[in-house]
Amino acid sequence: MKLTPEEQDMLAGKYGRSTKKAMEILTTLGDIFDAEGMVDVLSVQIAGVSYANLGEAGLEFLNEMAEDGKVKVLTTLNPAGMDRENWKVLGIDKEFAKNQNRVIDTFAKMGIITTCSCTPYLIGNTPHFGQHLAWAESSAVCYSNSVIGAKTNREGGPSALASALTGKTPLYGYHLDENRHGQVLVNVKAQINGTDEFGVLGKIIGDKLGELEKKIPYIKGVSSATVEELKSFCASVATYGGTALFHMEGITPEYNSYPIPRDFFFDIEPADIKKTRAELIDTDIEIDFVSLGCPHASIHEIAQISKLLEGKKVKKEFWITTARPTKKIADEAGYSKIIEEAGAKFAADTCCVVAPIKGRFKGIMVDSAKACYYGRAKNKFKVKIGTIEECVEEAIK
Ligand code: F3S
Repeated sequence: MKLTPEEQDMLAGKYGRSTKKAMEILTTLGDIFDAEGMVDVLSVQIAGVSYANLGEAGLEFLNEMAEDGKVKVLTTLNPAGMDRENWKVLGIDKEFAKNQNRVIDTFAKMGIITTCSCTPYLIGNTPHFGQHLAWAESSAVCYSNSVIGAKTNREGGPSALASALTGKTPLYGYHLDENRHGQVLVNVKAQINGTDEFGVLGKIIGDKLGELEKKIPYIKGVSSATVEELKSFCASVATYGGTALFHMEGITPEYNSYPIPRDFFFDIEPADIKKTRAELIDTDIEIDFVSLGCPHASIHEIAQISKLLEGKKVKKEFWITTARPTKKIADEAGYSKIIEEAGAKFAADTCCVVAPIKGRFKGIMVDSAKACYYGRAKNKFKVKIGTIEECVEEAIK
């Protein structure tokens, strides 16, 4: 790899031990992927923040890097294993809370902003078209590449941290225009509405792309989509298909920048939507947990939930998972008061997937196809997908 004099100095240890280690990680990665050199990144988003994922070994690595490491660019975190303020109310045990705080404090020592969210683009870690990033959370990577038109590979925990400490990432993969063209044409012949249905669409496309081993769909036939619907779609297509980039005709910024793929294509009919939605509803489910905000809820979604809950009481455990800055806006707007008076709980900084709640509930209802996947696979819950309205209905019935 060709390195600039500054990058060579980083590798030689002139900027300290952690920067040297970080540059070693990045040059190794660059050599594996035949990168010609490095590119400067605008921002970083680090995943693998939950103590449940990191354990003591992961924390030891972080502590080593924090000895003299300081971030060079804006860096935020993915959701942690608990709400940093409200963890007791959410039933998180004291020992876990202590360890989770050790992790967050170590990130803070390196100058990382300890906002823990999978929707950094909604809360200030907001790139623009064409800018290079080093992000790790799969749904956010997909959103930044596809909806914003920024450029990032899906980073692992160590490579994202290495980019944070150097401000660099190897120039390969989705950083290069030649790797960003559509590979499969998808004709959507059904009307798609709502976060739940966009999640269902993401599962259909993701499942199919997995079979074809091609990852970049060019999607025709979706007439409009909100930010919330797109974030749900991104989470789902990334979960089921490993997709980090798509083009949606008339909606995403690069849709007409590359030739439309012709060799591989498939159609999605209304019957496919119905069938796949049914796959996300387990039989004999007994719902004792409702969770909204996967990916983390926007202020629009929180406003909608507060309107639906006004004057009502929930009868089941009901979490709204979001970023803390969004929760603060909800506090100021009066939405939080309505939601909390109804008995629902905010779970900021965390979510129903990364919190250590395996086996604690029998059945979960969500509006997110991604949460269905991990609800089953990780937490061993039965799952049911529904609209936001149906989820609130279930919580109060
Ligand atoms: Fe975010 Fe958790 Fe869903 S990290 S995308 S809310 S599984």
